Amino acid sequence: MNFILESARVAPSAHNRQPWHFVVLTKKQKDEVADKMIEVVTKNQIEDASVIHTAQIIKEANKLILVFYTNPSNGDTRDMDQQSIGAAMENMCLQATKMQIGSLWIGNTYVIKKELEQRYFSSGQLVSSLALGYPNQEPKPRPRKDLSEIITWMEEKL
Ligand SMILES: Cc1cc2nc3c(=O)[nH]c(=O)nc-3n(C[C@H](O)[C@H](O)[C@H](O)COP(=O)(O)O)c2cc1C
Repeated sequence: MNFILESARVAPSAHNRQPWHFVVLTKKQKDEVADKMIEVVTKNQIEDASVIHTAQIIKEANKLILVFYTNPSNGDTRDMDQQSIGAAMENMCLQATKMQIGSLWIGNTYVIKKELEQRYFSSGQLVSSLALGYPNQEPKPRPRKDLSEIITWMEEKL
């Protein structure tokens, strides 16, 4: 776990702001997050099966790390900070994979964002979460767009 958190700590960040805070929940708190997600989507009839699916994975996982943005702001700063947090998330996923630990990058905890902020880190904004556990599946790589669809080569005019 420390190696995974360390990989987030050393991630690159715009202007070295390191605009993140990580809260590692206990098993009880992790399970409460999952239950609450299910309760909220069921009560509010949110038609998003992926939230329920995510909650089930959180239950199966050993750990849940909540990832908060510590520098809530607008405009360019925010855009850059979000990229920095993305780099920290990716570092943690890569480090987990290196250690043969299963990881799931989670955005769906947004359905109880306000509650999680109030309870665990009221000076920040919840950006995403990371579930960690023993891998019990080997998902096939999902399709990617062809390079030709995502790259524009500008012609050199000599
Ligand atoms: C920002 C972000 C948020 C995600 N949120 C969720 C989530 O809430 N629940 C989930 O099951 N997977 C979530 N994922 C995982 C993706 O759905 C997907 O399984 C993973 O990125 C690998 O598939 P891909 O190659 O299509 O990206 C998220 C991934 C990213 C990058």
